[in-house]
Amino acid sequence: MPRTRQTIAVAGVGDLGKYICEELLTSSDFSVIVLSRVVHASLLAACQKSHTCKRLIPSEWIGDSETYPLKPDYYASTRDPFRKILRAQDEVEWTLFNPGWLADYFLPRGKTYISPIPDKFPVDPNGWRACIRGSGEEMQSWTCGREIGRAVVELCRAEEWVSGNLTSAADTIPLWHIENVTYVAGEWSTFNTAVKVMESHYGTFQLYYLNIVTGWLLPITHKPVEDIQFSLEMHTNNGDDDFEALELAQVEEMMIMGYMACPKEKTMRQQQKYFADLKSSDLEQLLTYADGVDFV
Ligand SMILES: NC(=O)c1ccc[n+]([C@@H]2O[C@H](COP(=O)([O-])OP(=O)(O)OC[C@H]3O[C@@H](n4cnc5c(N)ncnc54)[C@H](OP(=O)(O)O)[C@@H]3O)[C@@H](O)[C@H]2O)c1
Repeated sequence: MPRTRQTIAVAGVGDLGKYICEELLTSSDFSVIVLSRVVHASLLAACQKSHTCKRLIPSEWIGDSETYPLKPDYYASTRDPFRKILRAQDEVEWTLFNPGWLADYFLPRGKTYISPIPDKFPVDPNGWRACIRGSGEEMQSWTCGREIGRAVVELCRAEEWVSGNLTSAADTIPLWHIENVTYVAGEWSTFNTAVKVMESHYGTFQLYYLNIVTGWLLPITHKPVEDIQFSLEMHTNNGDDDFEALELAQVEEMMIMGYMACPKEKTMRQQQKYFADLKSSDLEQLLTYADGVDFV
């Protein structure tokens, strides 16, 4: 039986949103409308008033948000209040979607929609340097933006939502089963391993990175855990005097504590449940793919 074409509204389309929109547009199952900046509460209120728009994927895009819901610290104000609002209602079904780090930060500028953040992310593929926070051995997970976009499309197709659009015969008891937190991961790895993959990959294949002093090794600096903790405490205790420094310390804390690693067992289970047809690339596969295309 042919499916009805569904309309997906994407609100606040920035770098990552471009991948989600492009992947939705490649599917004949969906029409897309792009909404400009709206706040979560307005979006939920609109869904509650609507008779047909009853599913919501709010902005979450982090790591293990079930074990560490208030990390980074700024999620306590930017995400947690809305999660509470979602949990307190049952008119709109929802899932918080988490991909770990965006693997696109390992890609050269111009190959991805994701803007580089060389002072925050440990590996800078454009400046060809790395700043390892902590030991570099803490477990992380990452997924590239394109595959996140594809996963969001699969999630929109999931039977749990589709059947969830119906209510019981009495029209009162919802038959909704989507899980309230969904994870994807291209791979689990560490920043030390990522550096080795970058060196090995570009050293072999991309000679334009060759530096006469260092050869193809990534020049590495280190930031000890104590420095990050000191910065975190200092900027937290000083209030919002230097929001950028505070945000950086909070993001660095995510690295050294491994908070960005999506929980493996649940992620793998959900991969089978929602994303079984999707390819998920590890870093080496992503770099190799990026070499062969103008844009990922
Ligand atoms: N896991 C990771 O490694 C990772 C990395 C980067 C980002 N993220 C997360 O992914 C999401 C998207 O990131 P992005 O890089 O695509 O961001 P982006 O390019 O800065 O785009 C963000 C979008 O959200 C809108 N927006 C910003 N502040 C808003 C507010 N207070 N109220 C309503 N709308 C607002 C912006 O609207 P305007 O265009 O009007 O400013 C823009 O359309 C964010 O939640 C971010 O925290 C995760």
